[in-house]
Amino acid sequence: MAPPLPPPPPSSASLSSLSSSPITSTSLSRTETLSLLSLTAACVAVLANTFQGDGEPLIASLALSGVAFSATFALIRWLGPTFMAAGLKGVDMSKHNKRELPECMGAICAVVYLLVVIVFIPFPFYKDIVAATSGGGNRDVVLEVEHVQQGRFLHRFPHSKLASYLSAIISLQSIAILGIGDDLFDIRWRHKFFIPAFASIPLLVVYFVDFGVTSIVVPIPLQPYLGELFHLGALYYVYMAGVAIFSPNSINILAGINGIEVSQSVVIALLLALNDSLYLLAPPYPHPATDSHLFSLYFLLPFLGVSLALLWYNWYPARVFVGDTYCYFAGMVFVVVSILGHFSKTLILLLVPQMANFVYSAPQLFGLVPCPRHRLPRFNARTGLLEPSVTPWPATRQPRPPVAWALKLLGRLHLLAVLLDDAGNFVETSNFTILNLWLVWRGPMREDRLAKEITAMQMAVGLFGLFVRHRLALFIFDSDNWGIVIE
Ligand code: UD1
Ligand code: MG
Repeated sequence: MAPPLPPPPPSSASLSSLSSSPITSTSLSRTETLSLLSLTAACVAVLANTFQGDGEPLIASLALSGVAFSATFALIRWLGPTFMAAGLKGVDMSKHNKRELPECMGAICAVVYLLVVIVFIPFPFYKDIVAATSGGGNRDVVLEVEHVQQGRFLHRFPHSKLASYLSAIISLQSIAILGIGDDLFDIRWRHKFFIPAFASIPLLVVYFVDFGVTSIVVPIPLQPYLGELFHLGALYYVYMAGVAIFSPNSINILAGINGIEVSQSVVIALLLALNDSLYLLAPPYPHPATDSHLFSLYFLLPFLGVSLALLWYNWYPARVFVGDTYCYFAGMVFVVVSILGHFSKTLILLLVPQMANFVYSAPQLFGLVPCPRHRLPRFNARTGLLEPSVTPWPATRQPRPPVAWALKLLGRLHLLAVLLDDAGNFVETSNFTILNLWLVWRGPMREDRLAKEITAMQMAVGLFGLFVRHRLALFIFDSDNWGIVIE
C-alpha cells in the first residue's frame, strides 16, 4: 500500500498569517527556551567572572544587557495576553484583518530596564565603596581618629557620580509612570506635553551641582563679536528642559507603522554608543570625557537589550504594540545620557529626522490644519500597500486664505499631496508626517518596506550627523573634544 501523502506545504498566504498571529500562546517554544537559557547562563557566568578581577563594569553592563534581553523576550510572551485581558490592546489598522494586539509592551521594557540598572549599581561603585568604608578586604584595618572624622575616607567615594546615576533612575521612573498613565487613560496632548520637563528636574539639579557649565563655544566667524565662549546662564537649563520635552514627544509622533518606534530608538542608541566608543577607544586614553561616555554606555547597553527583544515582536507583522510608555521612555534614556554625559548637542544631531517630523507636523499640531486622532498612513486593502493618509476639507470648512496659499505652495513644491476640485476648492490634503511625505515622494509601498527605508534614512542622517560633529565642525570651531585640534 502506498504511504500516505505528506500534508501539502502551507501557501504563502497562510505562512504570513501564521507569523503575524498575535500572541495567543503564553509559552515559549523549545528552541526559544533553550536559546534564552543559554544566553542567560553565559551572561551570568560573565557577570560572576567580573568579581574575580577588577570587576570591570563595562563587561558587567554588557552581561546584564543580555539578561535584560532574555527577560524582556520571555515576559512579553508571558504577559501579552494578560495586558489584553486588562484592556491594554489596540487594533493594527494597516492589515486586512483588523486584529487586536497587546498594547503598552514598553512598560515591560521599562520595568526590566529599571531593575537591571538598579542591580548594576554595585558594579561601578563597588571598589570605591570598599576603599571608602574600609569594607571588603580591609575590614580589620584600624582606623585612625582623623580618618573617622573625615568620614572614613568617604571623600574618596564618588558621590557625585552616584548622585548622577540615581537622578537618572528617578527621571526614568517618572517618565515610565507618565507613559503607563498615558497608555491607560489616553491623556490629552496639552496635559502631558510638559511632564518630561518635570521628570528632568533631578538631572538638571545634578548637572548644576556636578558640572554647571552653561556656556557654549562660539563658532570662529562669530568670535570677534561674541568672544570664544557665550554664557547662556539660566537659559541653558531652559534649553536642556526643552530637549527633555522634545526627545520623548518627537519619538511618539514619528509612529504608526509596525516597528518604527523601536527601530528609530535602536538606531539612535547604537549611534550614541558608537559616539561613546570613539571616546573610549581613540587616543589619548583615558580621554578627559571617558567617565561621561562610560556612564552613557551603562545606560545605553541595557536599553538596547530590552529594545531588541521588543523589536522582535513589534517588527512587521507586529504581534504587540509598544505603547506611549516605550516612546517616552526611549526619549528620556537619550535625554539622561546626553545631559549627564554633557553631549546634548550631539543628541540633537541624531534627532534630525524627529525634528523634521515635528517641524513638518507643526501646522496640524498647532491647529492651522485639522489634526485627526490618527495620522498614520492609510492601508489600501485592495493593493495591500500603504498610501498617504489625508485630512478631508468639506466645502463648509475650507482653509483660510493664508493657509490655503501655503498649502498650495507646499503642494507645488512636492511637500504635500493636495487634491482640489474643479472650482479650486480643497478636497483633501495629506497628513503632515514624514511617513506620509515619504509615501508622497516614493509612491505606495508595503508597511515593512516603509519602516526599513525610514530606519535606513535615520541611520544615514545620524552617521552624517556624527561626521559633522567630529570632522566638519573643525571648520567652524577651534577643536573637537574628541582630541583633534587644528594646528
Ligand atoms: C501618535 C500620533 C498619531 C498616530 C499614532 C500612531 C501625532 C500627534 N500623534 O499618537 O497621529 O496615529 O501615534 O501610533 O502625530 N497603531 C497601528 N500600527 C502601528 C502602531 C500603532 O495601527 O504600527 C495604532 C494602534 O491602533 C495602536 C495605536 O496606533 O493602538 C497607538 O496609538 P497611540 O500611541 O496611542 O497614539 P498617539 O501616541 O497618541
Ligand atoms: Mg504613541
